[in-house]
Amino acid sequence: MSQRRAVIAGTGSALPRTRVSNAELAQRVDTSDEWITERTGIKFRHIAEADETTATLGADAARKALEAAGIEANDIDLIVLATATPDNTFPASATKIQKMLGIRGCAAFDVAAVCSGFLYALSVAESMIRAGSASKALVIGSETFSRILDWEDRGTCVLFGDGAGAVVLAAEESERGVLATRLHADGEHGEMLYVDGGPSTTGTVGKLRMKGREVFRHAVVNLAEVMTETLEAAGVGADRVDWVVPHQANARIIDATVRKLGLPAEKVVVTVDQHANTSAASVPLALDVAVRDGRIQRGDLIVLEAMGGGFTWGAAVVRF
Ligand code: COA
Repeated sequence: MSQRRAVIAGTGSALPRTRVSNAELAQRVDTSDEWITERTGIKFRHIAEADETTATLGADAARKALEAAGIEANDIDLIVLATATPDNTFPASATKIQKMLGIRGCAAFDVAAVCSGFLYALSVAESMIRAGSASKALVIGSETFSRILDWEDRGTCVLFGDGAGAVVLAAEESERGVLATRLHADGEHGEMLYVDGGPSTTGTVGKLRMKGREVFRHAVVNLAEVMTETLEAAGVGADRVDWVVPHQANARIIDATVRKLGLPAEKVVVTVDQHANTSAASVPLALDVAVRDGRIQRGDLIVLEAMGGGFTWGAAVVRF
């Protein structure tokens, strides 16, 4: 039945100019292409240069999403940016993006849920659209994790990359759009994936720390559960799903998660080989890749999912 829903009207993405292969990384870090590929499926990552920031990448992705949607920047009445690597502690980088796009007056704020940030941002924006307090929203995930990596820690620095992805959500009376979202968090596991600094503790930015093995174990369980829960909330069976667009952290996590749901690998969008883990940018970046190469078509049923530091995790079921 048609009802007011948040429909994805356009997608966009942006990557830093510099692309670094595993072999190039192995020249400055004690690692190898073989180790990284076998453990994670990652082959390349993009690393931001000094003039490329979370806000500039986010604004580039947003411009492309607006163009794809055929919507003028000035028609946007809400900007939600998911990021754990803002340009400044404040103001919110969403307001910098707003300025770069030449928009004034609309609501603009950041959401911090690390790798699941885009799911959190999407859920907030679509709720506001359904409630009638917004009608055209930019939901952006943008990160420059290269700036918070400890380049001496080979267990983490090889896993991440920089980038941005964005969607335009438009209110429509439609059977398409975001059908259901589910979000979760469990602060008990905060020490498994965190940054060891911050404005109110050390007064510094800090570096990323992770217990990789524990994160891996929790990710598979939490992601399979939240996908099942969200499909149930949307009232659709897993067999009806056309595409899964998962968080791109690790090819093995993706494989194990979709196998638990009994979904075939051909229905899964995988870009982790090209981009590594771009945190909050990973889901909208992978979505944009699959929309632009023609795999995801209007009317397809897609599932988005992610998990990250906190832990936080979530999923969304969308009729594209
Ligand atoms: N290159 C080469 N060797 C490395 C390495 C690297 N980049 N990083 C770690 N190693 C070594 C370790 O020192 C260790 O050596 P040892 O056995 O001699 O002590 C060995 O590889 C195994 O390390 P371990 O950490 O146990 O490997 P793993 O099989 O658990 O794989 C991860 C490590 C990080 C790839 C894996 O745990 C993972 O993907 N976890 C999830 C991380 C993630 O996706 N986080 C983000 C979620 S949002």
